[in-house]
Amino acid sequence: MRKKIVAGNWKMNLDITEGAQLVNDIFNGSPQLDENKIVVIAPPYIHLTQTASQLAGMDFIYLGAQNCHQEASGAYTGEVSAAMLKSAEVAYVIIGHSERREYYKEDSAMLAKKVNQALVNGMQVIFCCGEPLEIRDANTQNAFVEKQIKEGIFHLSAEQFKNIVIAYEPIWAIGTGRTASAAQAQDMHAHIRSVVAAQYGAQTADDTSILYGGSCKPSNAGELFGNADVDGGLIGGAALKVADFLSIIAAMG
Ligand code: PGA
Repeated sequence: MRKKIVAGNWKMNLDITEGAQLVNDIFNGSPQLDENKIVVIAPPYIHLTQTASQLAGMDFIYLGAQNCHQEASGAYTGEVSAAMLKSAEVAYVIIGHSERREYYKEDSAMLAKKVNQALVNGMQVIFCCGEPLEIRDANTQNAFVEKQIKEGIFHLSAEQFKNIVIAYEPIWAIGTGRTASAAQAQDMHAHIRSVVAAQYGAQTADDTSILYGGSCKPSNAGELFGNADVDGGLIGGAALKVADFLSIIAAMG
């Protein structure tokens, strides 16, 4: 059975003290979840070792990273490798976030290499996809997202694909307060699942967690997560506020 996941992406927010406080508050406030539901916290790199030690012994909160480099090691000043993340006890790596694609020009070929690095190092990938507003307005979002998925993760073997979580994040909904409707999210998630089924078979598609991201908050999380193909969320802004994040965790049901 596929997992339900709420993942908090802090982006470039919170210093070391603030981060420790937030993790502590989540740790203390989180309900005990059954084994099919997990939480991922993805702080900036500099927090990772601190967050890992805070999470030691928590069996349903996992550590995530927001990115990794596409090469194994070498002269890449300022970068962090997947092996380093693994050594910091990172379990999940977010790859292909629209902000990385847009601001850092990460294209599909680079993202596929990043995915490989994360998997070779024994981590799970949260692979992001999602269309900009003009594509949604032209009603060509299904083909757009399908292409992102095929180019980024369909080179994987069926065995490797078991380590992939997909996050659908329409760009027009990220940080804008404008959320996809529950029906828009469900339609796209069902489409993504059918695309995965065509490549890897119905069982793999059924086992793949597909998260929604984009202005997910306590007031809409329940409705979004209530859809058959929405298996949780990738949360930005609301992951920085403990009460909001806890209530989104609770919305997993
Ligand atoms: P948001 O960000 O929740 O602030 O819209 C989501 C994301 O970018 O992962």
